[in-house]
Amino acid sequence: MEHMQKAVFAFPEVEEEAGRLAKKLDVPLGLIDLHYFPDGESRVTVPFSADAAFLYQPLNDANLKMFPVIQALSALKARDGAAITFVCPYLPYMRQDKVFRDGQALSQKVFAKVISPWVDTLITVEPHLHRSRSMDTVFPEIKGIALSGGEIMAGYFRRKRVAKNTLVLGPDEEAWHTAKPFAEALELDWATAVKKRKGDRDVEVDIEGKDLKGRPVIIVDDVISSGMTVFQAAKKAYSLGAGVVEVAVVHALAKPQTLEALRQAGVAWVISTDSVPHETNKIPLAPALARACKAL
Ligand code: R5P
Repeated sequence: MEHMQKAVFAFPEVEEEAGRLAKKLDVPLGLIDLHYFPDGESRVTVPFSADAAFLYQPLNDANLKMFPVIQALSALKARDGAAITFVCPYLPYMRQDKVFRDGQALSQKVFAKVISPWVDTLITVEPHLHRSRSMDTVFPEIKGIALSGGEIMAGYFRRKRVAKNTLVLGPDEEAWHTAKPFAEALELDWATAVKKRKGDRDVEVDIEGKDLKGRPVIIVDDVISSGMTVFQAAKKAYSLGAGVVEVAVVHALAKPQTLEALRQAGVAWVISTDSVPHETNKIPLAPALARACKAL
């Protein structure tokens, strides 16, 4: 098999995003062949080997993608002494960081145990470090690097005109992790709302202690999934007299109908990083990911 010193590898579904990273690193991009047999089993073939292999793959739809990713990592690791870096801009199962009810699997830990044996270094973006506070806690066996989605998104907003009286709003208490660095980088006022989650699509959001009248609001969160968290936060902000409300999110997992509901609720626009390919992507992660890869 042909051999490279350094290369980025990716499945064709993220060829564009992985290509941006390969370009920044000035290394070849190897597209991985993924074949499904009639019984649904997958066969993965890497096009060449590398001493330093960077596998690029976000793990949205994790249950579908995990096994092919492990197959790819194992094929790359088959080369003696290869250093494997998994560049996974969206890490799954990070919100299941606790046994909330007796009998539940601690999925964050299970995910870490499954992925760690194949990887030397894991680079990700805004991985919802909440109850587990650091990458070392979640991935004690490997080197884990988490880039701040809030800081990266602020870089994009710095080039836009943002009114000085804008309020940066994390739509729940956990969102401070993303909202605070975003607001601080832009020197804006910030707050977090109070969220009560009663079900997957049933949330209540309250905003206390800030005068929103006439102020633009940027809702900043790590993930938008059902969209109910930002939907309720936007509705609440408008009910308190906010001016235009927009949303900046690191990982956009929302379906098109969710975006439509947000538009109906008056959200001016939703902007996301390209951690997961999505129609709202505006902020490429490649420059920050490349810096992290080069610093290894
Ligand atoms: C929660 O802890 C996360 O930071 C997000 O706020 C949440 O996962 C968003 O979910 P949804 O869009 O389904 O409300």
